[in-house]
Amino acid sequence: MAEEGSKKLWGGRFSEETDLLAETFNNSLDFDKRLWREDLDGSRAHVRMLAKQGILAENEVRDILGGLDRIETEIETGKFPWRPEYEDVHMNIEARLTELVGEVGGKLHTARSRNDQVATDLRLWLRRALTDALEAQHELAQTLVAEAERHLEPPLIMPGYTHLQRAQPVLLSHWFMAYYEMLSRDTTRVLDALFRMDESPLGSAALAGTSFPIDRHFVAAQLGFLGPTRNSIDAVASRDFVLEVLGAVAIGQLTLSRMAEELVLYSSFEFGFVTLPDGFATGSSIMPQKKNPDIPELIRAKTGRTTGALITMFTVVKGLPLAYNKDLQEDKEPVFDALDTYTSSLRLMKAMLPELEWHPEVMRRAAAGGFALATDLADYLARKGLPFRQAHAVVGRIVRRLQEEGRDLSDLSLEELRSFDSLFDQDALDLLSVSGSVASRNVYGGTSPEQVRARIAEAWEELEEDGS
Ligand code: ARG
Repeated sequence: MAEEGSKKLWGGRFSEETDLLAETFNNSLDFDKRLWREDLDGSRAHVRMLAKQGILAENEVRDILGGLDRIETEIETGKFPWRPEYEDVHMNIEARLTELVGEVGGKLHTARSRNDQVATDLRLWLRRALTDALEAQHELAQTLVAEAERHLEPPLIMPGYTHLQRAQPVLLSHWFMAYYEMLSRDTTRVLDALFRMDESPLGSAALAGTSFPIDRHFVAAQLGFLGPTRNSIDAVASRDFVLEVLGAVAIGQLTLSRMAEELVLYSSFEFGFVTLPDGFATGSSIMPQKKNPDIPELIRAKTGRTTGALITMFTVVKGLPLAYNKDLQEDKEPVFDALDTYTSSLRLMKAMLPELEWHPEVMRRAAAGGFALATDLADYLARKGLPFRQAHAVVGRIVRRLQEEGRDLSDLSLEELRSFDSLFDQDALDLLSVSGSVASRNVYGGTSPEQVRARIAEAWEELEEDGS
C-alpha cells in the first residue's frame, strides 16, 4: 500500500504483511473522508486569521486559499487523488495542497494540530448533519399533525391499549398526536446538543495552545461558532458533544421504533387496522397472502445501530486520560452511521404516514369489543354515588358473566343491567357507544375530539414558530 517515497509509518520492523495490517488498522481515510468539506472550511478560517495576525504573508495566504479551492473542485468532481498512505482526510488534503501550491502549503499547519483540527471538523460536520435531521424531524412533525387533523372529521376511533390489552377507546388523531409530543421532545434534545457544542476548538493546537499570536475569537466567528472553547486540554480531549448527539439520536430512533412496531402490529391480519402502501411492504415469495412490513420492521431494527453507536462512544471515552488519544478516531463511524440512520428513518416515516390506508370499521369494532367500555360503566355508577372500588367490582361481575356467555357489553338490556345494580338507568345504555366514551374524556390532554382539536391547533402554531 505504501508507495516508494511516501510517508511510511510502519517501516520494516515486521513482516510486510504485518506492516500492512497495522497501517490499515491505523488508517481512517475510508470513513473520515466525509469530513472534507468541514476540513476545508476550518483551514480557510485558520489561514485568514494567520494573515490578519501577520503570521503569514498576504500572498502566501492567497496561494493557500487558491489551492484549497482547487482541492474543493477536485473532490467535488471526483478527481481528488485520495491516497491511503496519508492516513486520514487531514493529511490527504494537506499533502495535496503542497503538491498544488508548493512549499508554502506546509505553512497551513502553523499554530494548529490535527487534534484541534479534527475536534473542529467533527463539530462542523455535526452542525450540518443535525440541521438535516432537524428538518426531517420538522417535516415528520407536520405530517403527524396533518394526519391527526385528517382523521378527526369524522373522528376515527381505535382501541387504546395498556399491556397490549384493549383498554379504552381513543381517537386515532390522539394516537398521532402522542407521537407528535414525543417527536417534539426529540427535537428539543437535538437543539440542546447543538447549543452546547457551539464552540470552536481551533487554536487549542495539540493540547496546550500555541505560542503564535493567533486570534481564536476571529476563527470562531468565521466558522459561525458562538466563541472559542475555554480550555485547550478539554477542547481536544472531550467528546461529550458526541455523546449528547448520539443520546438524542438514540432516543429519537426509539420513538420511531415504537411507531414502526405499532404499524407492524396494526397491519397484521390479526389486527387488520391498516394497510401499508405498496413500496413500503413486499410480498412473500412463497406465501401469496402475505405482505411483509419491511420498512417499519427495518426502522424498528435500526434502533440497534443508534443505541449501539451510543454505547460504543460511552465505551471509547470511559477512563480515557486527557488529552487527545488515538482512541478518539473511533468516534466518527458511530456518528456517521447513527445520523444517516436516523435522518433516513425520519424521512421514510414521513413518506409512509399519509399513504396508510386505515380501516375505520374494523377499528371501531375492536374499540367497542373486548369490554373496552367497562370503565365507562364503572364511572357511571361512581358518578351516581357508588364508591369507585365498589363500582369496579359490580362491572367486574358483569364482564365475567358476559365472558362466560360469549356476549359483549352491547348485548345488555336495561333490565339485565339493573339486575346487577339498581343505580343503572336508560342513560347507562347510551354510554355504551365508543363515540360517547371518547367524547366524555374531555379533560385537558384527554382523547375527546374537542381536546384533540385544540391541541392540533396549538401544534400548528408551534410548528410555524420552529419553521420560521
Ligand atoms: N485521524 C485522527 C482522528 O480522527 C486525527 C487526529 C490525529 N492526531 C494525532 N495526534 N494522531 O482522531
